[in-house]
Amino acid sequence: MNTQITASNPLSGTQANALAGKVAVIFGGTSGIGLAAAIQARAAGAHVIVIGSDRERARQAAEEHGLDWRAADVTQPEAIAAALRDIPKVDHLVLLAGTFVAAKVIEGDVDYMRRAFEERIWASVHTIRALGERLSRDGSITFISGVLADRPNAQGTAILAAASASMEALARGLALELAPIRVNTLSPGHVETPLLHKVLGAARDTVLPAMRAATPTKRLGTAEEAGAATVFLMANGWMNGTTLHIDGGVRLV
Ligand SMILES: NC(=O)c1ccc[n+]([C@@H]2O[C@H](COP(=O)([O-])OP(=O)(O)OC[C@H]3O[C@@H](n4cnc5c(N)ncnc54)[C@H](OP(=O)(O)O)[C@@H]3O)[C@@H](O)[C@H]2O)c1
Repeated sequence: MNTQITASNPLSGTQANALAGKVAVIFGGTSGIGLAAAIQARAAGAHVIVIGSDRERARQAAEEHGLDWRAADVTQPEAIAAALRDIPKVDHLVLLAGTFVAAKVIEGDVDYMRRAFEERIWASVHTIRALGERLSRDGSITFISGVLADRPNAQGTAILAAASASMEALARGLALELAPIRVNTLSPGHVETPLLHKVLGAARDTVLPAMRAATPTKRLGTAEEAGAATVFLMANGWMNGTTLHIDGGVRLV
């Protein structure tokens, strides 16, 4: 899917320079929401390092958008530590890496379902521990959740919903444990990214119109909109310990 992402600074007013000269590391920044956030954070003056598991995708995304990059699989603690080893200081850490883990609890493969937590909770724990004192005290950490955390369905997403909701709880706990570092979670509804298109597969031509119709805005979100919300959480110094919903109102129906 080809997403058009503008490179203008999404910040204005007192926040306009909040990211200037700051170092932002975005896990999952090589595609979709994370890449959109990376492009906008760079436009706001940050030095941005994007990380994905696919080396070639990371290199290409970085080259195309003037970003720095690393490759690491977030389910591998040693790979996380190695990717971060030569970065002296991180002002804003964003953890969006993840896949759509879908399997029914009664019949799914447990190791596969465990991945939902490995990519989210344990990847975050390993990353924060690997950075330790290199996380700026006046910086931020942003996690990803999703509308499933509040609005589950019966399509094999219970584990992903649990992993997503647990990120919101982790953010609230860490906002106290790591204070004064700010820790927040972005909770998007359905955003048209490569992930969504891959998950829907051949059914996308029928399912996407139904999803759009079921959303109060009558359309799904764009990576650029969700990316801008991520940059807002990074830049606004009073956002802390909270979950920012961006979903076109779909949680209400
Ligand atoms: N799109 C939606 O509607 C939606 C809604 C709610 C929540 N979310 C969540 O938002 C996040 C981003 O989604 P997206 O739609 O932007 O997806 P996307 O376009 O597929 O991007 C996913 C990013 O995560 C990276 N990634 C995935 N597994 C990884 C791993 N094991 N190690 C390192 N990097 C990994 C990918 O790079 P590689 O492929 O190179 O590893 C890519 O950079 C995901 O966690 C997703 O669950 C998405």
